[in-house]
Amino acid sequence: MKILVIGSGGREHALAWKIAQSPHLEKLFCVPGNPGTMSIAENVAIDSSDIKGLTDFAAQEKIGLTVVGPELPLTMGIVDEFEERGLKIFGPDKRTAELEGSKVFAKQFMERHKIPTAISKIAESPEEAAEILNSGKFSFPLVVKADGLAAGKGVIICENLKEAEKAIHLIMVERKFGDAGKRAIVEECLRGKETSFIVLSDGKEVVPLVTTMDHKPVYEGDKGPNTGGMGAISPSPFIDEELFSEIMSSIVLPTVTHMREEGRKYKGVLYVGLMLTEEGPKVLEYNCRFGDPETQPQMLRMESDLVDILLAIIEEDAQGKEIQWSPKASGCVVLASGGYPLAYEKGKRIEGLNQASETPGIAIFHAGTKFQDGEYYTNGGRVLGICASEENLSVTMEKIYKTISGISFEGMHFRRDIGALKEE
Ligand code: AMP
Ligand code: GLY
Repeated sequence: MKILVIGSGGREHALAWKIAQSPHLEKLFCVPGNPGTMSIAENVAIDSSDIKGLTDFAAQEKIGLTVVGPELPLTMGIVDEFEERGLKIFGPDKRTAELEGSKVFAKQFMERHKIPTAISKIAESPEEAAEILNSGKFSFPLVVKADGLAAGKGVIICENLKEAEKAIHLIMVERKFGDAGKRAIVEECLRGKETSFIVLSDGKEVVPLVTTMDHKPVYEGDKGPNTGGMGAISPSPFIDEELFSEIMSSIVLPTVTHMREEGRKYKGVLYVGLMLTEEGPKVLEYNCRFGDPETQPQMLRMESDLVDILLAIIEEDAQGKEIQWSPKASGCVVLASGGYPLAYEKGKRIEGLNQASETPGIAIFHAGTKFQDGEYYTNGGRVLGICASEENLSVTMEKIYKTISGISFEGMHFRRDIGALKEE
């Protein structure tokens, strides 16, 4: 069949790389794709939030399966559009994707069903937010969140009242994140180890993906501001069998069950952002998509055919389905542009990429690159993900870092401690 992957990051390159190995595949398209997907797929220049353009393209090409990378098209209702036109697409519909698209919905849902999460209050107006902040109900630091999608910037940790008032002003009065700031959430700041937990669900059954650990802060030792993720490893050293079962029974299964009972059958990826607190795992947020860069090490370890499993989810036929995983350890180190996650320059020539790509056992997933006149240039904050999967984590990471030593561009930075963090 013809398969379409929507998105242009490292996550989408990794998904496309895995799909390219499927016996189901006749032809692969990536929209818009990136220079990395160019060698395994036909890149088509349609914006990943142009729902009509994407639906028309899929109908015209008779695409048999569409896989959506980013959250925006999902929260905009791409799945509803495709299904209306009889096209198979992997992901939750618009109402179900509200679990990511509206933090207020997610929070109220968790409260209704006693799914462990931070204590919070919802503010419908700046005045109400001021009342909450002055009520003494929350001690500092506390967290202020915009309701809707804000490109990962709508969550502000505030050390004191002044910072909290400023955050509310930014979100609800200045409307820095547009309509995402119509409502805001004030919540308790959770302490612990942050981790993600990612599963597939057909609305009833849950098929867990192999565990991963992201590294969000920009600098080594988890210092500096959060990024989209500077690297990931699989398996996660923090999730043992006992914790895995606890997360499944207290969070993942109740989420899927109660969403179904509320008439929002959760079909797709359920990515749960968690804080491992002293009182047990608590939900920070839900995402309705694969992780980036978590997907990269996950795809390297997946032995089963990804297309088979995605089709089973769409057909609501996941009962008894298991994914086979390689017992090896995998890792991904992100090479970022100078300045990222703040302002950065683009257009720096990348040296050594072709040679690095030929290293046996190394997979390089493009994220923010551009190909011009036979050369690769930087074109985003996260530029490349250098990945490998070997018999253990230290061999994997050594191989990755050795490969990185042959790649360079002006301003390039990366964390040298991906996978090196030990339990605190
Ligand atoms: P979210 O988009 O809700 O996951 O928030 C983005 C980031 O903010 C998370 O990855 C956490 O690092 C942090 N965060 C969000 N909520 C809390 C909380 N209640 N306590 C502590 N940190 C939080
Ligand atoms: N790596 C974090 C995320 O995908 O949300």
